[in-house]
Amino acid sequence: MPEVSGNLLFLTVLFPVIFIILGLIFIRMLRKAPKTTKEKRSETAFIVETFHELVGKLKEKERELEVLRQKAEERAVEIESYSTNIIQSVPSGVVSLDDDLVVTFANTPASEILREKEPLAGKSYEEIFREPLRSILKKRETVKRREYLYELRTGEKIWLGLTTSKLYNSSGEPIGMVMVFTDLTELKALERQIQFRQWLTSLGEISLGIAHELRNPLAVISGYVRILEKKKAGFEEEIEAISREIKVMDRTIENFLSFARPVTPANVDVDLRLLLEDLVRVERPEGVDLDLKLDECMIKSDEILLRQAFTNLIKNAFESMEEGGILRIRLTCKGSRAIVEIEDAGRGIPEQIRDKIFLPFYTTKEKGTGLGLSIVQKNITLIGGSLNFSSGPGGTRFVLEIPVERSG
Ligand SMILES: Nc1ncnc2c1ncn2[C@@H]1O[C@H](COP(=O)(O)OP(=O)(O)OP(=O)(O)O)[C@@H](O)[C@H]1O
Ligand SMILES: [Mg+2]
Repeated sequence: MPEVSGNLLFLTVLFPVIFIILGLIFIRMLRKAPKTTKEKRSETAFIVETFHELVGKLKEKERELEVLRQKAEERAVEIESYSTNIIQSVPSGVVSLDDDLVVTFANTPASEILREKEPLAGKSYEEIFREPLRSILKKRETVKRREYLYELRTGEKIWLGLTTSKLYNSSGEPIGMVMVFTDLTELKALERQIQFRQWLTSLGEISLGIAHELRNPLAVISGYVRILEKKKAGFEEEIEAISREIKVMDRTIENFLSFARPVTPANVDVDLRLLLEDLVRVERPEGVDLDLKLDECMIKSDEILLRQAFTNLIKNAFESMEEGGILRIRLTCKGSRAIVEIEDAGRGIPEQIRDKIFLPFYTTKEKGTGLGLSIVQKNITLIGGSLNFSSGPGGTRFVLEIPVERSG
């Protein structure tokens, strides 16, 4: 590049100056004192020759200049497309904004992560970003690899890993902001699954001991209750109440054990379509209609764990539709995953309890144990799947993703 700029300097500044000086000399020579005709002719011939030579050189330099200019332009285009290619190829979103926080550039992953179909360039930050990104940009805050649970304009919540920095021009003055962000949602879900598995293992170990300790005294109490029953001591009603409570406690312990007991999932052929068809037909209460669209879907998994998970979800769905409605079930086999959607038309899950429903023993039902969804989550995690739900006043939709081949 220094060689190119040296040539450019010569051609654009020095050469015209030299040309003007020579022109002036030429004019002066023409005006000088009269000479003999012969002298005049040879002098004029010399000057004209020099002039032609100069014009030739000028043209040659002009051509050189054009070639250099073209080369410089090509190189600039090359460098620009190279950097654009790099920025477009990274899986992270890259967005630059000017000093008024209007987007000047955004790569394709940025639009994909933010689920924006319209081009981002030219839009103000307020049109595109929501909190906390809006405040970060407004305050021109610099953050380094921070993680945020971010709600997209579509209402979907994702985990974002964010880095922002100020943008400076070559004189060191701030001219805007650059932000780089990555969608960490899948990674976070994977992390949660690993934590959940670890938690299940420790829970299994602790709870087996506790359940055992509780069952022994419970067996002794029921023994005494039976003796009292036989003696006909006159407290029949009270004795019956004690027996009832013992049964409830025993069932709770049994349910908890089935949740906490460590399980190694099987890996056998399961006909998902048949399994779902059987389950809904057996359990369906009056007033509830079925809308089934089930693909043919054979997978390798654990039938018992799946049956238990579907049963609990369908039971919850039926229980939420006291006034009847349609229960929709969809089964689609997509490549390596089977997707099961169970959607009821019930009362929905209130916003304030949504983060508690998977906790063991959390229930809002008089006769519920609160273990139904914990078992669903445990079983689906054990077979390597994942589950999500969305809910509103018109009903609740659970979506299960189940691997067609189990890998671990
Ligand atoms: N489809 C649904 N519609 C509305 N609320 C639901 C739905 N599924 C779960 N819930 C809510 O989540 C809570 C926990 O559900 P979970 O299945 O774990 O326990 P449960 O149904 O209360 O008890 P159990 O499953 O032992 O009968 C429920 O009490 C209910 O408030
Ligand atoms: Mg339940």
